[in-house]
Amino acid sequence: MQGRKPRALDLFCGAGGASMGLHRAGFDVTGVDIKPQPRYPFQFIQADALRPPVDLSSFDFIWASPPCQAFSKLRFMPDAKEHPNLIPETRAMLVESGVAFAIENVEDAPLGETGNLILLCGTMFGLQTSDGRAELWRHRLFETSFPILLRPQCQHRSPALGVYGGHVRDRCRNVLTVVGHTPVDNTWRSRRAITVTGHTAQTNTVRNRERQTYRTEDAKQAMGIEWMTMAGLSQAIPPAYSEFIGRAAMPAIAATEATA
Ligand SMILES: C[S@@+](CC[C@H](N)C(=O)[O-])C[C@H]1O[C@@H](n2cnc3c(N)ncnc32)[C@H](O)[C@@H]1O
Repeated sequence: MQGRKPRALDLFCGAGGASMGLHRAGFDVTGVDIKPQPRYPFQFIQADALRPPVDLSSFDFIWASPPCQAFSKLRFMPDAKEHPNLIPETRAMLVESGVAFAIENVEDAPLGETGNLILLCGTMFGLQTSDGRAELWRHRLFETSFPILLRPQCQHRSPALGVYGGHVRDRCRNVLTVVGHTPVDNTWRSRRAITVTGHTAQTNTVRNRERQTYRTEDAKQAMGIEWMTMAGLSQAIPPAYSEFIGRAAMPAIAATEATA
């Protein structure tokens, strides 16, 4: 690694939320996703992340964000589809590579087999709308191949802004939902969802409860992601999370290199 930037591979990279944080942590980043990602800001390879057409050992760090639908709250929706759990296969591939790694997923995901697990939330990084109207609650779990000693705490206040796909829990009435579309029908599902419309922020009253509506721009500012559409945002992590983990990985990367 001497004389060059460390290289990170971002598997299941989406539109690049995690990649941007790794870039900010000092990595030269390459992303792999099975779908085209025209907004992805770094070198991109369209491929199956479980069969990447690259030599994993040529990277210093591997990030993986396998799809979370199998474990997200949305799996309880009446019309939810079956989703495969790609975490075990992903972990096996990363352990086999011998490269330092992090696997990202939602709170209920079966992570932690390496014994190194950390939960991050937007409030740990002061993420909020630029007018301070709402803070970003976006809990994500990270299993790493190395320990992370510095463990920030959630700083939840209210109202909160969550960015996820269409489901709002009762205890989160003031949470903003970033969905890939604007629900327009009047079913219980869409009335429970707080939508980001891309227009003016407003307050709605539904069943005598007041809900805030936020603009797409609010979600972009709170996430620290200006280059994505709503679809990308709803799947992404704030770059602040991967920057934090990428920096924490540096000692493990240096140790691996010293023993190589
Ligand atoms: C949760 S999103 C990743 C979001 C990304 N970490 C970010 O912060 O922007 C998961 C991504 O995995 C991709 N995906 C699903 N199955 C895949 C596979 N077998 N190989 C590669 N990518 C896959 C999806 O297209 C999706 O973009």
